[in-house]
Amino acid sequence: MIRPQLAEFMRRMDPNSVAIIPSAREATRSNDTQYRFRQDSDFLYLTGFEEPEAIAVVAPAREQKYTLFVRPRDPEREIWDGRRAGVEGAKDEFGADEALPIVEFDEKLQDILDGPEKLYYRLGVNPDLDDTIIRQIARMRALNRKPIHPPQTIIDPATIVHEMRVLKTPEEIELMQRAADIAAEAHVEAMKAARPGMKEYEIEALIEQIFRRLGAAAPAYTSIIGAGVNATVLHYINNDGELRDGDLLLIDAGAEYRGYASDITRTFPINGRYTKAQREIYDLVLEAQMSCVEMVRPGTTHDQLKSHSIEVLTKGMVRLGLLKGDPAELIKEKKYEQFYMHGLGHMLGIDVHDVGRYYHDKESRALEPGVVMTVEPGLYINPNTKDIPEQYLGIGIRIEDDVLCTPNGPRVLTNKVPKKADEIEKLMAR
Ligand code: GLY
Ligand code: MN
Ligand code: MN
Repeated sequence: MIRPQLAEFMRRMDPNSVAIIPSAREATRSNDTQYRFRQDSDFLYLTGFEEPEAIAVVAPAREQKYTLFVRPRDPEREIWDGRRAGVEGAKDEFGADEALPIVEFDEKLQDILDGPEKLYYRLGVNPDLDDTIIRQIARMRALNRKPIHPPQTIIDPATIVHEMRVLKTPEEIELMQRAADIAAEAHVEAMKAARPGMKEYEIEALIEQIFRRLGAAAPAYTSIIGAGVNATVLHYINNDGELRDGDLLLIDAGAEYRGYASDITRTFPINGRYTKAQREIYDLVLEAQMSCVEMVRPGTTHDQLKSHSIEVLTKGMVRLGLLKGDPAELIKEKKYEQFYMHGLGHMLGIDVHDVGRYYHDKESRALEPGVVMTVEPGLYINPNTKDIPEQYLGIGIRIEDDVLCTPNGPRVLTNKVPKKADEIEKLMAR
């Protein structure tokens, strides 16, 4: 049985076409050691096959519609690197009509390319394979007095696959809920464990221990554990600072569960109580966050969400004295960017920053049922900022949830982690 995703991809392909979809490649970490392998997201989505050195060939008009090129079984190599599905497994376990050893791909390429008018292949990801395919097409063009016809058009398969990935099926939503639940539990435990004097990496270890214990393959991205001013560095990943009494801790950490990401941020007081200044900024970010979550409904565009967050935050910053002037004017001049310099959120799925277009013909895309996106406004007040109330210097706050758009409105996948200041304080007091 092939995956429903692959069947749907085949239905959407041009009838007279072939697709070549490669796996990810192993990456060297240093000398002869490798990073833990992570499958290419499109390949995983279509095939469910988790090994490197594989290529899927999909040809809807042929009798063998789905061919997988894979590493064959090899008892000696399997002692070192573990079990391989092999050519038998590619058919029996993964539903390929035909499976061949990966070393035979080059010699089969002419047959693969001969006939279909269109080739679905994503150029620019794997330069070696790009070269192999382009050279093969060029060789076939030169044989124009023979009955050999290479494809005339090369189309990015992402035009189909990425649009499919934008809309999650019920099965995918279940996996994403599990990824969200795992990360939620880790965030709750981090809130309970944080104490002045700890190091950021102790919290990182605690969170990632929980991810693995609950069955996640890994963090979905490098965890951000930023205490005090480190919370104002957007991509802070050193995680080696100290948790100080009176400071906030920003944790942006999500789990990858069976290929699907979660992405949660919470910002809480290390000693369990927000100061008045921290609470003022926190409540403003929360107001923006919660009102944007409410807008995650069919028809709302990405740009409307961002604009709404800018409006709430700018008005609030004028109230608090971080910005001076007329909010409408300040928005026009983008003055908020000094403190709110990133997007409101992004689509979420197999990639944490998931695929799919945000604009169609320059028009911001509207949300639809099945879209999962993050809602993550923040304010980051550089400690060297001039002419603002000094109690706010060095505060960095982001609040991030993962939200499914449904016909009836937002469903927050990550609502098991408290986010109201009182609820967080109550949890930490226990
Ligand atoms: N953790 C990455 C992001 O929030 O987009
Ligand atoms: Mn995010
Ligand atoms: Mn995040």
